[in-house]
Amino acid sequence: MIDSKKIFTVKCPICSAEMLFEGEKVLKCNGVKSHSYDISSSGYVNLASPKQSGGGDTKEAVRARSAFLNQGFYEPIANKTVELLSQCSESNGTVIDAGCGEGYYTSKIADLSSATYGFDISKPAVEAAAKRAKREFKNNLFFAVASVYSLPIFDGSASAVVNIFAPCVEEEYARVLKNGGVLIVVHAGTDHLMGLKKVLYDNIRENDVRADMPKQLELLHEERLKYGITVNGNENVMSLFAMTPYYWRTSQNDIKKLEQIKNLDTDVDIIFSVYKKNQ
Ligand SMILES: C[S@@+](CC[C@H](N)C(=O)[O-])C[C@H]1O[C@@H](n2cnc3c(N)ncnc32)[C@H](O)[C@@H]1O
Repeated sequence: MIDSKKIFTVKCPICSAEMLFEGEKVLKCNGVKSHSYDISSSGYVNLASPKQSGGGDTKEAVRARSAFLNQGFYEPIANKTVELLSQCSESNGTVIDAGCGEGYYTSKIADLSSATYGFDISKPAVEAAAKRAKREFKNNLFFAVASVYSLPIFDGSASAVVNIFAPCVEEEYARVLKNGGVLIVVHAGTDHLMGLKKVLYDNIRENDVRADMPKQLELLHEERLKYGITVNGNENVMSLFAMTPYYWRTSQNDIKKLEQIKNLDTDVDIIFSVYKKNQ
């Protein structure tokens, strides 16, 4: 959990007042009604409204994602994200990981920020992220269940927003960024996981161009990272599958094809798009 004496930029999701730590177990706002939020034993807080709660990745998807990521297949993606952050954003600033999942990238980003905030609408994901931070002795991280469409963060308080394979909400990310702050969107290139798709489908479609890419912020830099991986063991192949959008749109017949393979060779093809807020 983040050091409560550091600058803390979280606002109350109900009344937008400033939030302060009350001991180690409670966050309280200084508004008229003093809304209070319990900090879980794993170290995260639920700031989602009842309407927003319950969405995002399931417990099973979170487990699959952790199992896959912990083997280092996507470490080059984490390294490139950290490199771009250190090149393009102010050093030792406040960073937000919007749609942080189980915190694999958040934890690495925290090494070069004074404070890093991870938000995700999935409670199991945020719980896993907070546990990871504890395991890795990171004490400049704050995790909350919250929607990326309505981040509980004051306007203009972040030096960078990182958005990795999660919904990109330009207006909201621009709101929380300082002038001169950067948004790094990490998203799939056309050949991403082509090997996986070749096993699953007879007719392969290229990945769609994302409709939610920023349109108003200035594109500073764009870079592609492409490399091959071999995923050994069907359990690991199925973990990779469970963390992709294909998991939700593949027929049982096609899934059976994947269940029969022992190893998978595939491309990883990632685009890093860096945007700047100018005013
Ligand atoms: C593909 S996962 C990526 C997670 C993480 N960034 C990573 O790459 O490991 C997408 C994440 O976005 C989260 N998500 C989806 N809709 C969201 C929303 N409206 N607000 C916050 N998080 C959301 C999901 O719960 C999930 O954890």
